[in-house]
Amino acid sequence: MPIVYVTRHLHFSAAHRLHTDMLNDQKNKEIYGLCNNPPGHGHNYELEITVRGEPDPVTGMVIDLKELKDIVEKEIIAHVDHKHLNYDVDFLKGIVPTAENIVIAFWEQLKNKLSNCELVELKLYETPRNIAIYRGE
Ligand code: NI
Repeated sequence: MPIVYVTRHLHFSAAHRLHTDMLNDQKNKEIYGLCNNPPGHGHNYELEITVRGEPDPVTGMVIDLKELKDIVEKEIIAHVDHKHLNYDVDFLKGIVPTAENIVIAFWEQLKNKLSNCELVELKLYETPRNIAIYRGE
């Protein structure tokens, strides 16, 4: 049976600060630069969710993309949109909110919430030029 990959694109805005308690303030400044400024700063994030599966013989769809959007909004976007990622989001507590760590946490939020298709890839654009991709490995 043919396997098709489908992608849904969503976006959210959030604040974060890059800082780890495992290093002193000087080291944090050296590594993270402006991103270490104490009050934090914001990004307009873009998130792409890719799933794969066989198109249903009746509907012709792997998953209804509206349904996929609703799941991602409920499991992820509702928790992070217009929030401070260092303080406001339970599933991001205790991590440095780099794009890498955020995309892994998103995967964990989403991985058991999809039926009849397989989560393949999350792609998080922190800016149009800075992108983190996670495939669950
Ligand atoms: Ni940033």
